[in-house]
Amino acid sequence: MLEVKNLIKSYGNEKVLRGVDFSVKKGQTVAIMGPSGCGKSTTIRCLNLLTEPDSGKVIFRGTNLLELSSSELLKLRQEIGFVFQNFNLIERLTVQENVMLPLIKLDFTLEQRVKYARAALEKVRLADQASSYPKQLSGGQKQRVGIARALVIEPSLMLLDEPTASLDPILVKEVLEVIEDATYSQKRAVVLVTHEVSFALKVADIILLLDNGQVVEIGSSESIFTNPQSEVGKKYKELLEYY
Ligand SMILES: Nc1ncnc2c1ncn2[C@@H]1O[C@H](COP(=O)(O)OP(=O)(O)O)[C@@H](O)[C@H]1O
Ligand SMILES: [Mg+2]
Repeated sequence: MLEVKNLIKSYGNEKVLRGVDFSVKKGQTVAIMGPSGCGKSTTIRCLNLLTEPDSGKVIFRGTNLLELSSSELLKLRQEIGFVFQNFNLIERLTVQENVMLPLIKLDFTLEQRVKYARAALEKVRLADQASSYPKQLSGGQKQRVGIARALVIEPSLMLLDEPTASLDPILVKEVLEVIEDATYSQKRAVVLVTHEVSFALKVADIILLLDNGQVVEIGSSESIFTNPQSEVGKKYKELLEYY
């Protein structure tokens, strides 16, 4: 589904990604973890070219995104859902209108758009809030709208960048539950950046540990959290044991 090869990115003199490689198969979930500033957001944003890498390849369903024209890229992006840490909802639109946004460029009637938005809102258990405005919602509900907006296109690749990092601790669980129930599909690949160690252990098939712009460890969650080889892996293991 997705193959990432030798991603390199600098901002000015700062090397942020120093050759990141990994791949994700259909039906798999990969969790990207690592200390703040190590390049997690840059990596996940390169996967749909929200951030453009300086070099490397992002091969999505056989096509290198870096070789596409902007119209081809727009088209392929319609198969990729993205969930932002800070929700990125449009305040003047209702919940349902926010969820319908990604469908606007597609060839659907209004009736179909409403139907798909409703179905996506059902999946995140917010059908009853369809006509509310974002400011009327809790942080957890806002992020569930963000997830519905990503799901509405039935993406074959779903990207989530620290989806619970802006939430009150008591609101984290409802969002993790929705991520677990709603984003997984046999037909989909999921890449998730998270600091939630026990959640990653539960849902991820593969854990990728980044440090200083490089993959320092990659493997099954069981192996990484029981027998870590990297310094970062050892820290996560200690964290799991502490809780
Ligand atoms: N748009 C940008 N302009 C300049 N520097 C950036 C930009 N985005 C990220 N960085 C820098 O790149 C490094 C990695 O950032 P990021 O990928 O956001 O890390 P993480 O998500 O792991 O916390 C940080 O040092 C950050 O300051
Ligand atoms: Mg980040």
